[in-house]
Amino acid sequence: MLIAQISDVHVGGARYREELLDRAMEEVNAAHPDLVVVAGDLTDDGYPDQYPLAAEKLAGLDCPRVVGVPGNHDARNVGYLLYEDTFGARDSRLVIECDGVRVALVAVDSSKPDLDEGEVGREHYGWIEEGFSTDADLRVFVCHHHLVPVPGTGRERNQVLDAGDVLSLLRQCGVDLVLSGHRHVPYVWPIAGMLLVHSGTVSTLRTRGFPHPAYNLINVEDGRISVELRIPGDGRQSLGTYPRDWPAELAARESDPFVRAARGDSLADSDKTPPEA
Ligand SMILES: [Fe+2]
Ligand SMILES: [Fe+2]
Repeated sequence: MLIAQISDVHVGGARYREELLDRAMEEVNAAHPDLVVVAGDLTDDGYPDQYPLAAEKLAGLDCPRVVGVPGNHDARNVGYLLYEDTFGARDSRLVIECDGVRVALVAVDSSKPDLDEGEVGREHYGWIEEGFSTDADLRVFVCHHHLVPVPGTGRERNQVLDAGDVLSLLRQCGVDLVLSGHRHVPYVWPIAGMLLVHSGTVSTLRTRGFPHPAYNLINVEDGRISVELRIPGDGRQSLGTYPRDWPAELAARESDPFVRAARGDSLADSDKTPPEA
């Protein structure tokens, strides 16, 4: 099964280059992915004239399964409403059969209008958990902002405000892949049974830490997941090949004390408080 992950298109921005997007689209179509994930920042400012241009470009994808989320640039002012008008729901859950692999996917809007910071929000947690509670061979979570810092991006900022809680939740939900964009630096962090895969900017020159526009192709095979970075029209490089099923002692999902403890008894319960000395 092949997933194409693109993000940070930034249609309408000063450093947006339409030819890069055209080239990336051609390459993605040639790769015949089973699923395309568009991980936010489709527009540069969320303006009404930028959304139709972004939609027109993405309509060029041959893949019938395209899942997107808005980014901070899309959500400015009422940009999130224009996103809904153009692409549909900002949050989505789906179960799909791809090349014999049953995939449970949950995509969440982590943007807040006029803030660059992201937040998933605890009001989403139950909904996310429910989305992953089905039988699945692969569980994929999508949000625009990053859950862990990405190297080469300077002073850490804009990380999902509730990143710790979200990481714990996803770990307990058995998530395999977390797909994000935002920092314009492609990078993979393997953490506690999950691969956190960040895509670069597919079609802009808004690059510093990684100096090229880029997107990812993620190949899910028996026993392994490999991530390949693609530079539109200009090559590829591996971001690593990882075990699909982590050794239980490394994923240690059952050992996560956070949410389970929070739902259980507390030492603050009167009958559990140690007697005073
Ligand atoms: Fe961006
Ligand atoms: Fe962003």
